[in-house]
Amino acid sequence: MERNIQELIEKMTLEEKAGLCSGADVWHLKGVERLGIPGVMVSDGPHGLRKQNQEADHLGINDSIKAVCFPAACATAASFDEALLERMGRALGEECRAEDVSVLLGPAVNIKRSPLCGRNFEYFSEDPYLAGKLAAAQVRGVQSWDVGTSVKHYAANNQEHRRMTCSSDMSERTLREIYLAPFETIVKEARPWTLMCSYNKINGVFASENPHTLTEILRDEWGFDGYVMSDWGAVNDRVKGLAAGLELEMPSSNGVRDAQIVAAVRGGALDEAVLDKAVARILNIVFRYADVQHPEAKFDRAAHHALAAELEKECAVLLQNKGALPLARAAKVAYIGGVAEKPRYQGGGSSHINAGAVTSALDAARVNGTDVVYAEGFPADRDETDEAKFAAAVEAARAADAAIIFAGLPDSFESEGYDRSHMRLPECQNELIARVAAVQPNTVVVLHNGSPVECPWAESVNAVLEMYLGGQGVGAAADALLYGDANPSGRLPETFPYQLEDNPSHLNFPGDGKNVEYAEGVFVGYRYYDKKKMAVRWPFGHGLSYTTFEYSNVRVSADVLNDGGTVTVYADIKNTGDRAGREVVQLYVADRTGTAGRPEKELKGFAKVALEPGETKTVELSVDARSLSWYSEALGGWYAAPGRYELLVGHSSRDIRGKAAVMFQTGKLLPFHVDENTTVGELLADARTAPILQELLEKRKGFLKKEESSDAAREAITTEMISRMVENAPLRMVQDFMKLPGEVMAALIERLNLQMEK
Ligand code: BGC
Repeated sequence: MERNIQELIEKMTLEEKAGLCSGADVWHLKGVERLGIPGVMVSDGPHGLRKQNQEADHLGINDSIKAVCFPAACATAASFDEALLERMGRALGEECRAEDVSVLLGPAVNIKRSPLCGRNFEYFSEDPYLAGKLAAAQVRGVQSWDVGTSVKHYAANNQEHRRMTCSSDMSERTLREIYLAPFETIVKEARPWTLMCSYNKINGVFASENPHTLTEILRDEWGFDGYVMSDWGAVNDRVKGLAAGLELEMPSSNGVRDAQIVAAVRGGALDEAVLDKAVARILNIVFRYADVQHPEAKFDRAAHHALAAELEKECAVLLQNKGALPLARAAKVAYIGGVAEKPRYQGGGSSHINAGAVTSALDAARVNGTDVVYAEGFPADRDETDEAKFAAAVEAARAADAAIIFAGLPDSFESEGYDRSHMRLPECQNELIARVAAVQPNTVVVLHNGSPVECPWAESVNAVLEMYLGGQGVGAAADALLYGDANPSGRLPETFPYQLEDNPSHLNFPGDGKNVEYAEGVFVGYRYYDKKKMAVRWPFGHGLSYTTFEYSNVRVSADVLNDGGTVTVYADIKNTGDRAGREVVQLYVADRTGTAGRPEKELKGFAKVALEPGETKTVELSVDARSLSWYSEALGGWYAAPGRYELLVGHSSRDIRGKAAVMFQTGKLLPFHVDENTTVGELLADARTAPILQELLEKRKGFLKKEESSDAAREAITTEMISRMVENAPLRMVQDFMKLPGEVMAALIERLNLQMEK
């Protein structure tokens, strides 16, 4: 149905237009009945439907309808599987349609900068490429039902501490390469209907009134055509926000800030055209939903419960296995830890789902007729040591063929609203794991957490299986993986450092409350650990399987990559074990052009491939100029220097199995302005200016000649030293040394600058 939005806007009063730019209540937009504009509903998100019918709140306090809790993003990110995210998105989109929800609030794609961020469980990764690709797939899935998504929280919201007022301070390069990059991928590749701005400031300006992020980048550069809504209560100055590109304020401001918009238009402080544009953007999306019907949509809770468990099987990461896994169904196994009975499967706050059914690992084991003895050992929800329970658990472990400890962070340790204060599991868990491992060589730890934890017992246990916060089917998935009914295929979307202090943000997290300095720059996660050549507990991309994979024949479609073109990287992957399994092939790009300040390598492609025993498949991944690029502030854009780049193909960031190289060809060179403080080194390193400078140095060869000198002087000043000092000398110094008249130097500088423009 073709809508004439402009005509509708012309019929609206100023008050109606201002009113449309804020919510009617916590979850609805305002409608205008006389014009047939419906007041559509939006709901959280991101990994289930939190639709509230009665008492509404955005903090997860009051109940919502019974729904299905899918694995949270911490888990789905570990699938490294775009198809999986798209499938989950489709299920969510259908639920929204069946429940008449027009926009699902999510996915949340903030970078996991520190393991401490309380909301990490809702976020995907420390890597922007992975987060962007996976979340884009989820958006495509949801929107396939003509239901919108709201990609959040835009941008640089990487901690909960003072999230509503703190300023995330960083260079433009860091912002673009790390914190905005997932949003960029999603906007360009999946065209989300809406975005949600974050609470925080970015370099001193509230994200809700930031023209740089909301308009210059989002709309002018990336071509976003939906609307931006505020996070719940993120509006600081409504009029400024509207002008900067924030169309919708959520939730309702009870009319207060609508009146400010009206007054600003009447008083001439705000051009009515700005308001009209915002209204048009909102209405476009409202009708994109309301004008399409999907009577076939249903909310099949039983089917989606099964789907949640199925997806989680692809997400869990087998971190370590010295042979205890998979277990035989006939084995006598001790299940230890309150989490076996009450799994932690989701996080607290606005994403909290009223799950209709939850399967624990204990339920699943019993259904499958497994010989399981359960000893609680420690409670699921707090850090409490009970010696009698400890002793019983150790005894059960000793008497069994294997002991499985279901561990994880209690809700109170990790939630929206505040950050963790340390990276440890509850002490009672660490203590009992150590005691059990001392008596049972087949000790397996199954983790439930949204972000890395320190694992001081890792060397003494046999196996570790990371479930993350795996949704309501987590127990069924754990059961299938532990007993080999499913083969683990998840990979870590983040590094597990040995200890919190190793993390690159450690000295600057969470800041002083007013500002948080992102001083580590682009060196987030593995970009830092790699550069520092630091040992880590488990690296980014790591994950084991019950089978083995062999890589061979890593090759490229061409040795030269032209700006604007693509090159395909191929690798042959063979399943060399005796079980079917899925391997995640990862492609990292390493800049070998000598450009300073770049990470050792960056993820630029991945593919998950299913292989039967003995089977070989060829995986294809493609790279283009952007895969090689960094964000240059001088250029105000993405840039890759001409030269050699290595394409590393591997099983994890620290397990590269093969490589190829391409020569990148481009005529694009970085601009720079020459003045009297530009150095000789800079000018000699640039093909545009080098000939001019060489000509000058040649002409005045003599000026660097050492006088006949004593041995002592020769020792003090080496030729190497002279040449390095000259490299670092600014032109004004060259002028002095060469005794050049001022006008000659001025003419030289002008000539050099002219060279830049050619
Ligand atoms: C959260 C958002 C959420 C909103 C609505 C806010 O507190 O930051 O992620 O979508 O509430 O519940």
